[in-house]
Amino acid sequence: MLSKSLILVQNQDEGLPESTTFRIDINEVNIDNLKNSLLPNQLLVQLLVASADPYLRGQIKSTGSFKAGQVMQCFVAGKVLHSTHNDWIEGDLFGANLPVTSIQVISPQSTGMLWKLTSYLDEEHISQGVGVLGMPGSTAYAGIEGILRPNQNETIFISAASGAVGGLSGMIAKHKYNCKVIGSAGGEEKCALVTSAFKYDHCINYKNANNADELTAMLKEVAPEGIDMYFENVGGMHFEAAMRTLRVKGRVAVCGQIAEYNKKEITYTPVNIMGMIYTQQRIEGFLCFDWLVGKKGKFLEEMSGWLKEGLLHVQESHYEGLEKWPEAFHDLFTGKNLGKVVVHI
Ligand SMILES: NC(=O)c1ccc[n+]([C@@H]2O[C@H](COP(=O)([O-])OP(=O)(O)OC[C@H]3O[C@@H](n4cnc5c(N)ncnc54)[C@H](OP(=O)(O)O)[C@@H]3O)[C@@H](O)[C@H]2O)c1
Repeated sequence: MLSKSLILVQNQDEGLPESTTFRIDINEVNIDNLKNSLLPNQLLVQLLVASADPYLRGQIKSTGSFKAGQVMQCFVAGKVLHSTHNDWIEGDLFGANLPVTSIQVISPQSTGMLWKLTSYLDEEHISQGVGVLGMPGSTAYAGIEGILRPNQNETIFISAASGAVGGLSGMIAKHKYNCKVIGSAGGEEKCALVTSAFKYDHCINYKNANNADELTAMLKEVAPEGIDMYFENVGGMHFEAAMRTLRVKGRVAVCGQIAEYNKKEITYTPVNIMGMIYTQQRIEGFLCFDWLVGKKGKFLEEMSGWLKEGLLHVQESHYEGLEKWPEAFHDLFTGKNLGKVVVHI
């Protein structure tokens, strides 16, 4: 059997991710030999899908965690080919954060992020293991349930609304809290998806705004009462427009700032801290991992329940073959994707 690996060829400090930044290595592996050589409490696994996520942009800079020549590590989903571990059997499906090598041996006790998906989906739907039932799903869940904590009928603004995290966040806010949900996305086609399939009340095409003043005016037009919550995925003029529209006791979940990721030097947006005393507002950054691994909340149970009830629309952009991973990663930053970017290995 052939095993493929995703290699970082060279660090890239700025600009859109380039295809020459990565390469795919292919090796022949003997599955029977690998099965026979497993130590106790190990798994031989096959990765089926790999995720391309915006946070990896920072990791491939020379200040990031990956060095040239190294196998890239990212969120993946796959199946167990053989097990010597009591908690796992052949055929089990899983999500994990692992080096991207399609056939490999892992030790569950030393694999920090590994979650069993067998009872939540079948192999045909394994892509959901890097989407709605994976890291982006847990991010939407964490941002809404853990950080923003909506009251019924409040107004929420969500940037990058047509993407993996943004789309799911809006759907949770709408279906669970009956919020007035306003999104922003780049283009009319994306906005149509956000309102028709994701059931947002409004979607602003931010490409029609040249600056924060214009974006604020567009936001105030659909939220004349102001917003109670902002789910921050983008940064820059989005953050400014949201802060200018945020009501008393408003909350901001700082999830990501994708507009900054391709820059060598990050631009910091000023915040009127003094004003926040009187407005009693809260700005809170967060990472999804505690929710993903079940330390906080009940992500997998609740999200899979909402999925079964039909409350969540699954939107994915598929790429066939690990060779397509660099292109899939690039497309995140040009906005080519609709929903979750999934690469089938
Ligand atoms: N805190 C955490 O634990 C955590 C976990 C996962 C993700 N995140 C963050 O969440 C955000 C969304 O991630 P995702 O996986 O759901 O990605 P995504 O939204 O599926 O894809 C990225 C989208 O960002 C938009 N975008 C790209 N460059 C932009 C720019 N310069 N200005 C405005 N929009 C831009 C594009 O949509 P348009 O066409 O609409 O521009 C693109 O489709 C990212 O900032 C990511 O880093 C944080």
